[in-house]
Amino acid sequence: MSTYLLTGGCGFIGANLAHALVAQGEQVRILDNLRTGRYKNVGKLLADHPQQVELWRGDILDGPLLDRVMRGVDYVLHHAAMPSVTWSVEQPIECERINAAGTLAVLEAARRQGGTVQRVVLATSCAAYGDLRPSEAKREDHEVAPLSPYAAAKLTCEHYAAVYSRIYQVPTVALRYFNVFGPRQDPSSQYAAVVPNFVRAALQGRRPRIFGDGLQSRDFCFIDNVVSANLLACHVPAEQVAGQVINIGCGEQVTLLDLVAQLAALLGHPLEPEFLPARDGEVRHSWADIGRARQLLGFAPAVRFAAGLALTLRWFADAGEDAV
Ligand SMILES: NC(=O)c1ccc[n+]([C@@H]2O[C@H](COP(=O)([O-])OP(=O)(O)OC[C@H]3O[C@@H](n4cnc5c(N)ncnc54)[C@H](O)[C@@H]3O)[C@@H](O)[C@H]2O)c1
Repeated sequence: MSTYLLTGGCGFIGANLAHALVAQGEQVRILDNLRTGRYKNVGKLLADHPQQVELWRGDILDGPLLDRVMRGVDYVLHHAAMPSVTWSVEQPIECERINAAGTLAVLEAARRQGGTVQRVVLATSCAAYGDLRPSEAKREDHEVAPLSPYAAAKLTCEHYAAVYSRIYQVPTVALRYFNVFGPRQDPSSQYAAVVPNFVRAALQGRRPRIFGDGLQSRDFCFIDNVVSANLLACHVPAEQVAGQVINIGCGEQVTLLDLVAQLAALLGHPLEPEFLPARDGEVRHSWADIGRARQLLGFAPAVRFAAGLALTLRWFADAGEDAV
């Protein structure tokens, strides 16, 4: 049994990690300030497994708190961040503080533990690639072209992570996520991601709203694949992955029109999207080359998009108003 610290563990990805780790019998400590995360994502888990999971309510920028919460921790899965591109364009300095300086604070706290933390896995983003090479799958050795403070801050995190591996012997792995989706993703925030947004609209009998022509594509990656990528990133030998940046996606290109069509097929009735003007700065096509993840982590996406969408729709339908 190992102890995992999940920063951002009340958020979408963090809460799914918490559930998976508890199911595997691991000890879980969550650090979250509940800024975008939701207590209900982990409330039942905390109540059902009081010996196995703890919630520490606080901020990753609080160094003394980080020192206490990291004591005895084997693995840190760092997901605390403000995860919105749009928000970052409005609040670039705040984005730098929480997403970049916050990550540095987590890395520095891991260093202060003096070698007991075996791995720090951190969440970064395909936003790093910007709009270059729109007709190619994105590879980690492609040039980056951040189009937002969010993307720039996430790139900064990758650089810090590599530095901490190189000079402080804190073994890190930066997972560059493509569009992650699944249960517990917040459909109600003003910055909601497209899958929960469309699923909620469809379940409430509203038309999904598409910005642009709907032919923009994404590599939608079901959450279970991301959970297994995190566990692999913890457990493959450090010399194989320390300081690396690794794409995590499914390698599938799905347009927003495909997404609407597949949702309609699952629901068994037509869905007519509403088209709005395209948004500035939106990347047209984004899909992952996952060769490095396969090679270094032994990662293979077990749940493809169509199956993941069906699971997500069922989860939101079962959760009803509680999911929103
Ligand atoms: N969801 C995706 O498709 C996606 C894609 C690329 C990268 N990511 C990254 O993955 C991570 C998790 O994303 P998510 O979709 O689960 O987002 P989320 O908003 O659901 O989770 C983020 C969590 O971090 C917490 N948090 C924010 N600031 C904090 C702070 N200062 N101290 C402590 N906790 C804080 C929030 O309350 C929330 O629980 C983020 O780093 C995000 O940038 C997500």
